[in-house]
Amino acid sequence: MTFQALLLSLFCVVLGKASVVTQTGHRNVKMGDNVTLSCVLTEPKDVLQVTWQKDSEKSHENIATYSNMKGLKIHEPFQDRMNFTSLVLNETNITFWDTRMDDTGCYTCLFNVFPLGSFSGRTCLRVFGLNASVHYNISEGHLTAICNAVGLPEPTISWNSLFNSTPIQEEVRHANGMVSVTSRLEIYDLRSLRGQELTCKVSNKNEEMELPVKMRKEESFSFLGLMITLGILLVVFILIVIAVWWRKKICKRGQSGF
Ligand SMILES: *[C@@H]1O[C@H](CO)[C@@H](O)[C@H](O)[C@H]1NC(C)=O
Ligand SMILES: *[C@@H]1O[C@H](CO)[C@@H](O)[C@H](O)[C@H]1NC(C)=O
Ligand SMILES: *[C@@H]1O[C@H](CO)[C@@H](O)[C@H](O)[C@H]1NC(C)=O
Ligand SMILES: *[C@@H]1O[C@H](CO)[C@@H](O)[C@H](O)[C@H]1NC(C)=O
Ligand SMILES: *[C@@H]1O[C@H](CO)[C@@H](O)[C@H](O)[C@H]1NC(C)=O
Ligand SMILES: *[C@@H]1O[C@H](CO)[C@@H](O)[C@H](O)[C@H]1NC(C)=O
Repeated sequence: MTFQALLLSLFCVVLGKASVVTQTGHRNVKMGDNVTLSCVLTEPKDVLQVTWQKDSEKSHENIATYSNMKGLKIHEPFQDRMNFTSLVLNETNITFWDTRMDDTGCYTCLFNVFPLGSFSGRTCLRVFGLNASVHYNISEGHLTAICNAVGLPEPTISWNSLFNSTPIQEEVRHANGMVSVTSRLEIYDLRSLRGQELTCKVSNKNEEMELPVKMRKEESFSFLGLMITLGILLVVFILIVIAVWWRKKICKRGQSGF
């Protein structure tokens, strides 16, 4: 980089910081809410285009651009859930509808100004939420129940402690602060499941939820079903025996009557 280029970029950075105001600063919202991020260029400048980027681990990816010439463009993962809500070039607003936890992150607005280059501002969003699911699998005579939770802040998982089995837990921390937790519980004594419900409890600072493991009928009730079938067969058998016995008795009585 030449000295001139260095000076120029330094000049732009200083200018950029000085004249863009991110009105919204850091926003905290609940999953599912709508939120608007806003940037204002405070000095009158000839803005050609505004661009919004989402900061990611590797780079800044463009998520939305607007110019009088080319109109607006919203990039793929954000289409239908985000849009410009201000098309004024020196005051740009984008709105997210029905926010998702993975919208959490920092966003950069860029005002492309002729002939100075770009002026930028940065604003961050945290979408608090909790989402979880549970499923199970029976193979080789034992049951494996798996509970997954994703949350911001970090979720914790517990099982109703009726089963003396220790869950194995794994967690993944995402760059934007979201944490995914997976808990795996193995139950070898399937009879211990009869008559009680296996439940995964997920919570974080703001919310909690209980997810019962819904066993398919034939699995939880197969033993009961067998018993009922045997019971019915037994009753039918007894009825048949009684009927045969009565028939013999009546027939005998009929014969002896003559
Ligand atoms: C979000 O915006 C939509 C459309 O403008 C509206 O129908 C909905 O009620 C808003 N949701 C919340 C939580 O404000
Ligand atoms: C934005 O530009 C318009 C003219 O194009 C001007 O009237 C307005 O004051 C400017 N707004 C800001 C915040 O500078
Ligand atoms: C986004 O906003 C622009 C300008 O208000 C509007 O013309 C366009 O239909 C909107 N797009 C969507 C997908 O809602
Ligand atoms: C942009 O959003 C901010 C914050 O929600 C709001 O105060 C401002 O009026 C909006 N500007 C326009 C032009 O819609
Ligand atoms: C919650 O999790 C379920 C299953 O993992 C998924 O289908 C759904 O899109 C998630 N919802 C949100 C709001 O993230
Ligand atoms: C059930 O568990 C077995 C072995 O533990 C595995 O191979 C199989 O893919 C699992 N099936 C489902 C639907 O999770």
